[in-house]
Amino acid sequence: MAKNIVVVGTQWGDEGKGKVVDWLTEQAGGVVRFQGGHNAGHTLVVGDKTYKLNLVPSGIARPGVRCYIGNGVVLDIAHLLGEIAQLEAGGIEARSRLFISPGCPLILPYHAALDQAREAKKNAAAKIGTTGKGIGPAYEDKVARRALRVYDLFNRAHLAEKLAEVMEYHNFVLTRFLDAQPVDYQKTLDETLERAEAIRPMVTDISAALYAAHDAGQNLLFEGAQGTLLDIDHGTYPFVTSSNCVAGQAAAGSGVGPGMLHYVLGITKAYCTRVGGGPFPAELPIEREGTPGYQMSRKGREFGTVTGRARRCGWFDAALLARSARINGLSGLCITKLDVLDGLSELRICTAYRLDGKIIDLFPIGADEVARCEPIFETLPGWKESTYGLTRWEDLPDNARAYLDRLETLCQTPVDLISTGPERQETIVRRNPFAV
Ligand code: GDP
Ligand code: IMO
Ligand code: MG
Repeated sequence: MAKNIVVVGTQWGDEGKGKVVDWLTEQAGGVVRFQGGHNAGHTLVVGDKTYKLNLVPSGIARPGVRCYIGNGVVLDIAHLLGEIAQLEAGGIEARSRLFISPGCPLILPYHAALDQAREAKKNAAAKIGTTGKGIGPAYEDKVARRALRVYDLFNRAHLAEKLAEVMEYHNFVLTRFLDAQPVDYQKTLDETLERAEAIRPMVTDISAALYAAHDAGQNLLFEGAQGTLLDIDHGTYPFVTSSNCVAGQAAAGSGVGPGMLHYVLGITKAYCTRVGGGPFPAELPIEREGTPGYQMSRKGREFGTVTGRARRCGWFDAALLARSARINGLSGLCITKLDVLDGLSELRICTAYRLDGKIIDLFPIGADEVARCEPIFETLPGWKESTYGLTRWEDLPDNARAYLDRLETLCQTPVDLISTGPERQETIVRRNPFAV
C-alpha cells in the first residue's frame, strides 16, 4: 500500500528539511506544502547545483515528481512566478508539475508593507524579527474572513470590489496608525490580474489530486516549513510565525484526513539554531573564534536563506525535543548536520532546566517562562574524525554513535536517519521511513 510521510522541523526551523525531503522524494510520487509561505528557505544541493526554494515543494528537483501547494499555504504569486522562472533558468521545468489550491489565501503588497511597518514600530525587545514577507498579516486576513484567495482571482469584478474594500481598511491602518506609505490600489489590481493568468493552469483541487495519487499507489510526502517552536499555538508565542507548523497541520492544510498520514519524521539538527527574536535557553555566543558556538555558526554556515541574518546557535536541547516529539507524534528522527560537530573536544546536551527553583525536563509553554529557564547540561566526549559525507552507521566514530544513542534515549524516539552533508546521498539510513 502507498505510504505517506510527514516531514516537520522539530526546533526553530532550518533543520535541513529541504535536503531530507529531496532525498526521500526518490521514493515518492508527490510532495505537498501545507503551511507557511515564502518565509521558508529550503536548500537543496544536487551535484554541482544548489537550489534555494521558498514556496515550491522540495521534490521539484526530481524529474516527474508532482509538487502540490495546499490550502494552508499563504501565496505570494509574484514570488512564486519568480521562483518558477529561476528553476527554469536552472534547467528544471516546474509549471507542468506544480499544482496550487484555490483555497490558498493571497499575500499582496500591503501585507509586506504592514509586516515591515509594524516591526519598525516595535521597540528592540518586542521585535519578532519576522522575515518581512507579509506572512502574519496574510494569515490575519484569512482568520478575519477578509482574505482574497486564489479562487477569487478568476472573477474580475468580484476581485476588484473585494480588493478595494480590503485595501481601504489596510491603507487606513498603514497611513493613520503605522505612519507608513499607502499601497496603490490600481497597480495592485492590474498586477494581480496579470499574474492570475500565469498561474491559472496550475490551479486545481489539491485534496482530490492527493486522493487520486494515493489511489494510484503513489507515496506522498508532506513537507513542513518553519519548526515546532515557531508554531502559532505551540511555539514561544509571540516569537513565532503565524501558522501551525506541527504534523497535525499536514491534514488540514492540504485537505486529507489524518488517517492518510502514516509516519511523522522529525528533522532535528545535531545542535540548535534560531533566527529572529525570542528565548533560547541553550544558546551559545557565536562571535569568538575557537568556541563551539563559532564552529556551529561558521562550519554550519548558519546564515538565513531568506534574510541572510546570522542564525543564533546553541547546544542540543533534549527538553525541547521532548515537547516537540509529543506535539508532532514523531515516528522517527532524522539528525542533521552531525558533521558540523566534528572536532569538538566535548559536547553538551541540555537535559532539563532550572525554573524558579524547580527542575523541569519539558520545555515550558510560556515564552517568559522559557526565558527564565537555566539549562542543565550533561557532557559527552566529542570525536576527532570527520563524519562528513558518511553513508554507513558502522563508519561513524564510536563517540558520534554514543552521542546519537544518547539523543535517541533522551528524545524517546528512534533515530532513523542521519544527515552528514548537504548533498542528497550524504545520508545514513537505519530504518527507511517508507519501509517502517
Ligand atoms: P530547512 O529550512 O529546514 O530546509 O533548512 P535550510 O535549507 O534553511 O538550512 C539547512 C542548511 O544546512 C542548508 O544550507 C543545507 O544545504 C545544509 N545541510 C543540510 N543537511 C546538512 C548536513 O547534514 N550537513 C551539513 N554540513 N549541511 C547540511
Ligand atoms: P524554514 O522553513 C527559520 C522565523 C522568523 C521570525 C519568525 C516570524 O526555512 O525552516 P515570519 O516572517 O514567519 O512572520 O517570522 O519566524 N522564521 C523562520 N526561522 N526558518 C524558517 O523557515 C522561518 N520562517 C520564519 O525569523 O523569527
Ligand atoms: Mg530554512
